Amino acid sequence: MTQFDPEKIRRDFPILHQRVHDQPLVYLDSAATTQKPQMVIDAVDRYYCLDNSNVHRAAHALADRATTAFEHARRRVATFINSPKSEQVIWTRGTTESINLVASAYGRIALQAGDKILVSTLEHHSNIVPWQMIAAERGAHVVAIPIDTRGDLDLDAYQALLDERVKIVAVNHVSNALGTVNPVKLMAQYAHSAGAKIVVDGAQAIAHFSVDVQDLGCDFYAFSGHKAFGPTGIGVLWGREALLEQMPPYQGGGEMIETVSFAGTTFNHLPYKFEAGTPDIAGAIGMAAALDYLENIDRAALQAHENNLLKTAILLGEEHGLQRVCAPQQAVGVYSFLMPGAHPADVGTLLDQQGVAVRTGHHCAQPLMAHLGIPGTVRASLSIYNNLDDLHRLFAAIAKVKTFLLQ
Ligand code: ALA
Repeated sequence: MTQFDPEKIRRDFPILHQRVHDQPLVYLDSAATTQKPQMVIDAVDRYYCLDNSNVHRAAHALADRATTAFEHARRRVATFINSPKSEQVIWTRGTTESINLVASAYGRIALQAGDKILVSTLEHHSNIVPWQMIAAERGAHVVAIPIDTRGDLDLDAYQALLDERVKIVAVNHVSNALGTVNPVKLMAQYAHSAGAKIVVDGAQAIAHFSVDVQDLGCDFYAFSGHKAFGPTGIGVLWGREALLEQMPPYQGGGEMIETVSFAGTTFNHLPYKFEAGTPDIAGAIGMAAALDYLENIDRAALQAHENNLLKTAILLGEEHGLQRVCAPQQAVGVYSFLMPGAHPADVGTLLDQQGVAVRTGHHCAQPLMAHLGIPGTVRASLSIYNNLDDLHRLFAAIAKVKTFLLQ
């Protein structure tokens, strides 16, 4: 493990060293997607230059190398999240597909008419809509877990909602819109006491702190490669083995079968039962390189660095008269704010013109925005490669936006 050195880390990310609108780029949109270190770019490049082939199929050297690298990547993910077995790691296109897989395949066997799925008010649409779809199919109901004024889940209300009709709880580990860190370990204990399973959307957590699926005690954990310094188009569903075994396949096609005849088909064993079609091989290899990159960094120091940046952003925001949207007791990576008197979209456009990249809008969390009574926020999201200089640039740009819009 190397010592945490933010300036060395910045040098590992080639994209950061460019000018946008004739200003040095300040990238504060890592909650949407993180940038990629050179070693991830090199791993994908090397695979396509030297090893590209399909996996698990052909009898030649390239196919053998591709298969070895692809399965190594699965083991890499398993170790990273402390999965008991690598067969519990299912490759998907990303968090959204992982949640759709659970909703569709597990929802189909777990839900009866009248059952309930608890979904938090903090969720991204990808952890709401798949549940609404399977609820409509099964005659079940999606019920929201409320939040308090700070933007924290109301755990008393959650416990009160956990009756015998609740079969599934779906919650994010970290809110993409507010940065709230949810107590998923405790929530898993409550869910299990009530006989429900818990599905955790870990998309915004995995790049910020260590995730141990056994310690969390969750039943399913979903995340994407691209929000943790890996490529887009690759993600993971981790699940408890017994549940994955019970679940029917999600999609039909090659790889997920054992035998096919017109009389009927038998299905492959885990993890292949859920991996129909040629997977994103380069994506998996790139994701493994990203996890290697992350694991080589002192993560406690990284977390302290990110927490310091977030605290500084909050303080500077107050000094600049910004209104922080909620104030969760524990937050990571996200500073979501409003500039009183200005529309978030205008603020975002004017920041972009000064080389500062943020996201504005509802952040795919419309129910949360409706609950807060706002159309959206300006979101500056922080990552491993951001530094205090980025924040000073952000707030210098904000001062100019204020002059332009409000005077
Ligand atoms: N879910 C991503 C975000 O929060 C796209 O920006």
